[in-house]
Amino acid sequence: MPKKLYLETVGCQMNVLDSEMVVASLRKHGYSLTHDPEQADTLLFNTCSVREHAEEKTYSSLGKLKRLKQRHPEKVVGVMGCMAQKDQKLIFERAPYVDLIVGPGQLQQIPELVSNVNAGDGRQVAVSLGRREGTVENIKRSHETFDPLRDTEMRPTPFQAYLRIQIGCDKFCTYCIVPMTRGPEQGRPPAQIVAEARVLADQGCKEITLLGQTVNSYCYKTPEETTNLAKLLAQLHEVDGLERIKFVTNYPKDMTRELLTAVRDLPKVSPYLHVPLQSGSDRILERMKRGYTVADYRDMMDRIRELLPDAAVSSDFIVGFCGETDEDFEQTVALTKECRFKNSFIFKYSERPGTRGADRYPDDVPLDVKQARNNELLAVQSAISEEDNQRFLGRTVDVLIEGPSKLTLRKGHQDEPLQQLTGRTHCDRIVVFDGNLRQVGQTLPVAIYDATAHTLFGAVVTEEIDPTVYTLQLN
Ligand code: SAH
Ligand code: SF4
Ligand code: F3S
Repeated sequence: MPKKLYLETVGCQMNVLDSEMVVASLRKHGYSLTHDPEQADTLLFNTCSVREHAEEKTYSSLGKLKRLKQRHPEKVVGVMGCMAQKDQKLIFERAPYVDLIVGPGQLQQIPELVSNVNAGDGRQVAVSLGRREGTVENIKRSHETFDPLRDTEMRPTPFQAYLRIQIGCDKFCTYCIVPMTRGPEQGRPPAQIVAEARVLADQGCKEITLLGQTVNSYCYKTPEETTNLAKLLAQLHEVDGLERIKFVTNYPKDMTRELLTAVRDLPKVSPYLHVPLQSGSDRILERMKRGYTVADYRDMMDRIRELLPDAAVSSDFIVGFCGETDEDFEQTVALTKECRFKNSFIFKYSERPGTRGADRYPDDVPLDVKQARNNELLAVQSAISEEDNQRFLGRTVDVLIEGPSKLTLRKGHQDEPLQQLTGRTHCDRIVVFDGNLRQVGQTLPVAIYDATAHTLFGAVVTEEIDPTVYTLQLN
């Protein structure tokens, strides 16, 4: 009997990629995926600790399994990812029916750990060393990932893939748990990254998104040479079959002229830069230990506008960080209006035990104030996004078609050949239009006739069809 795996993933793109690899490795051990926990032999939860809410979501999902596990004690329940690394055995206290705890650096051990549980060896725990639990080399090694193993079926779409170029983070922003869960910053060797990109392109992948917590700080040194992101992009640009290369998330201080010039000169590289500002107040940036001032960020925006005038820039913000006054927040609003981001992700500060922020500063902004600031900044950003999108009315953009739109999926029409589809422009704008399922995976020109804050609406431009291709399709 083939074994069934149920897998829930929360958190960032790193987790989506990790889930892809875990599925690939379990498939090799005879597993297939199921969306029904009742059917599953093994149930895994890939977790995130960046905000309390993300952890609560996982505990609530685990809570729902209690009865199932009572009825079927033979089912294996595992918690993997950042929360597994952060809380380790503490998870057993809140969810006693968990069998398996696996950190992001130990995911390759999952098949073996699951079979240990099945063999009656009891609970299994595999995590990396803490940031002070060994030599730097040993700590780094314990956080290494097993990236080359991939599973196309787990991707957002078969022609789009994530590719990790950097593990961990050394920036230690005072609010953030990631340096503890993902360990020290380490760049993967460029030869390995390029080889993986080739495999992906050979599998039909047209767009790769390079991942790193501070992806533009990427650095790989050998005695002979140092490879930075600009140089890596130039190497990846040579990979046949790839059409688009994106990279997230950027750190403002490392957005160099060299990198921006590479983005300008390499047409496959998307003119889309996600570079979180977090706050528009120097006092708060200092408390967050972000390593830049408002003036530095402005200089960076000037560099971007000079070298890439059409680039889309997006940001993250934390509102209600410890000690944030109305005045600090107003500075954030003012800078948001000045920078005119394509979009922003806005989060209410969530204190994370184990971070310097939690040790040093009381979480003193009341929840209702955080919520009000969140709403206000979101409204400001939405107005900017909508105005920005209006500029596209009447223009034609190239769209890489991803699949059925949300509306199509909601209506359950995803199998009909003619339906509403969705895709993205080179600079990451979402476009919705009527099309044919056959067009999924193609890059086609779409003329835009309507725009909201989050979406452009358009129609595929058909006049430009090459007659030879058209004849081929008819046959
Ligand atoms: N490495 C990336 C993002 C890490 S987490 C970067 O440095 O930009 C993604 C976003 O979550 C962050 O940009 C930040 O805005 C938010 N975040 C991180 N820790 C948080 C916390 N404790 N409370 C609320 N939001 C947080
Ligand atoms: Fe967290 Fe800062 Fe590192 Fe981003 S740069 S992962 S916010 S510590
Ligand atoms: Fe969350 Fe870990 Fe990503 S804490 S945001 S899943 S790196």
